[in-house]
Amino acid sequence: MNYKFTLTYELDAPIAIAVAAYLDSEHYIFLHSAYTDKYEVLHHEHHSRVITVRQTWKLLGISMGQVYTCEYVPPAQFKNYNVKPSPWYIPSIHHLISVSTDLKYLPHPEKDTTISILDVDIKLPFWLYPLRHWLQKGIEKLKIEKDEEDIEMIYRREKLFGRGNNSVYLADHQFMLYKDDYVKYYGNSK
Ligand SMILES: [Fe+2]
Repeated sequence: MNYKFTLTYELDAPIAIAVAAYLDSEHYIFLHSAYTDKYEVLHHEHHSRVITVRQTWKLLGISMGQVYTCEYVPPAQFKNYNVKPSPWYIPSIHHLISVSTDLKYLPHPEKDTTISILDVDIKLPFWLYPLRHWLQKGIEKLKIEKDEEDIEMIYRREKLFGRGNNSVYLADHQFMLYKDDYVKYYGNSK
């Protein structure tokens, strides 16, 4: 059975900064260590926008490892799918359910902020269907709390560099996933 829901809210950050924070994968395990303490790119085809990632997440009080496919659709869409438990022999919620997400960022029509739209698709056996709202709450909580940490980081950088200033992300020494695409779409944003 499938259960789908959408979580939409406004992020108080210009879209160029929100996208940079997402693609700046180096900050994940530092800033979000309470939620994710391991992030490893296992596979990347040259010139593709798809990577295979092994990551641990703490969801609903349970720590679990997963391998998944992560796809960037420029300029501001991020899909996660093919989630599999890792290592496979440790019992995990991913043996029972499969969660795919599709995150889109849109520039706010009136303000210099970002609308975040997260579509979640949970595939689960019928006997877990009664728990779907509980799963939804867990996923929403994780997403909101992680975004709050990002917004704190964004405010700290805003104080130093000014709102919307992404020049630090564009600098040569700064690693970022799909940096060529980022520079193409957001290289002149300030
Ligand atoms: Fe983040």
